[in-house]
Amino acid sequence: MFETLAKAEGDKILALMGMYRADPRANKLDLGVGVYKNQKGETPIMSALAKAEQWQVANQASKSYVGLAGDVGFNDAITTLALGEGYDKSRVRTQQAPGGSGALRIVAEMLAGAKPGATIWVSDPTWANHIPTFTSAGLVIKHYPYFDAATGQVRFDDMCEALSAMPQGDIVLLHGCCHNPTGANLTGEQWQKVGDLLLERDLLPFIDIAYQGFGDGLEEDAAGLRHLASRVPELVVALSCSKNFAVYCDRVGAAILMGRNAEEADKAISQLALVARKSYSMPPNHGAAVIRHLLETPALKTEWQDELEAMRMRMLTLRQGLASALRQHSNSDRFDFVAQHRGMFSRLGLSPAQVDSLREEHAIYMVGDSRINVAGLPDDGLDELAAAIVATL
Ligand code: LMR
Repeated sequence: MFETLAKAEGDKILALMGMYRADPRANKLDLGVGVYKNQKGETPIMSALAKAEQWQVANQASKSYVGLAGDVGFNDAITTLALGEGYDKSRVRTQQAPGGSGALRIVAEMLAGAKPGATIWVSDPTWANHIPTFTSAGLVIKHYPYFDAATGQVRFDDMCEALSAMPQGDIVLLHGCCHNPTGANLTGEQWQKVGDLLLERDLLPFIDIAYQGFGDGLEEDAAGLRHLASRVPELVVALSCSKNFAVYCDRVGAAILMGRNAEEADKAISQLALVARKSYSMPPNHGAAVIRHLLETPALKTEWQDELEAMRMRMLTLRQGLASALRQHSNSDRFDFVAQHRGMFSRLGLSPAQVDSLREEHAIYMVGDSRINVAGLPDDGLDELAAAIVATL
């Protein structure tokens, strides 16, 4: 049977991880996969999380099945974190999912079941894995303009023009915060305008929120999502805990559905549960149970918030440091956008050949579209890095 298969090309971000690991050079620098790193280049377990985990191990009485929706306490806590205290509980339903990617997949499949052949509009560019995930779930992909590579800014007028022309009932994927791969985000005013257009065109917003707390703060990063939730009749969300709780390999995420009313929300979540049952059945419990305990324990929640805030501030400082080193070396403001962007990523605007040359000659690893992971920047090596980048120009 297998002889009929062609070798799959594989995901570029994950392939880069493999190349980096195999590189024997001691001075290698990983600015590839979106994983937070501290000053030592490590991705530690957050201290509040480790404490919650100890509690979970000491108190878990059974490993029997939990259910298709996962841990309902986790679902409540994480939905409140995303939507805020005041959301309309009567028409919002949440299902735990295996990471944000798992949530993207099951929600997409549920939508494809609701409207076979439905179109989802994604930003140009978007996270590379959005496209295969949605396509294999049965959605048709179209792109709306989003990023101006020359200026590093959002092409907001072009985005609005595209939204105004979208057929009624289409789905629009929006990054809740910390746009991946560009780092260029919508302002509060722009979220309002997007809300107007979604309503006007009767479009369904699908929010991917994977970096809450990495951009402008926990509350600030959810403001766009909350604004839409307060206005539109229906909304779907794929949420990831991988980054802001640093539980990457535990696979913790959630799918949140907001229906027009309780009855429609119940129908939608029942379909979502069916999709999960048909693919992986039940989500992994451990990470979600740990996060539930953390969020339900005020002292641990505060400790986690402080740690998250320190991570956010570190990324901001690194952004400013790199922008200023690049300004000096290039003798121009070409890279000033690095300091304005938010979250883990920025796209430097280098060509694939320049990205290859940085990897081959300087052991600097970044994704082929010149996306860098800001958290991977070396605190004491920004000058050297900027010199290498400018040398390739
Ligand atoms: C990334 O964009 O690097 C992360 O979201 C990790 C991944 O799975 O691609």
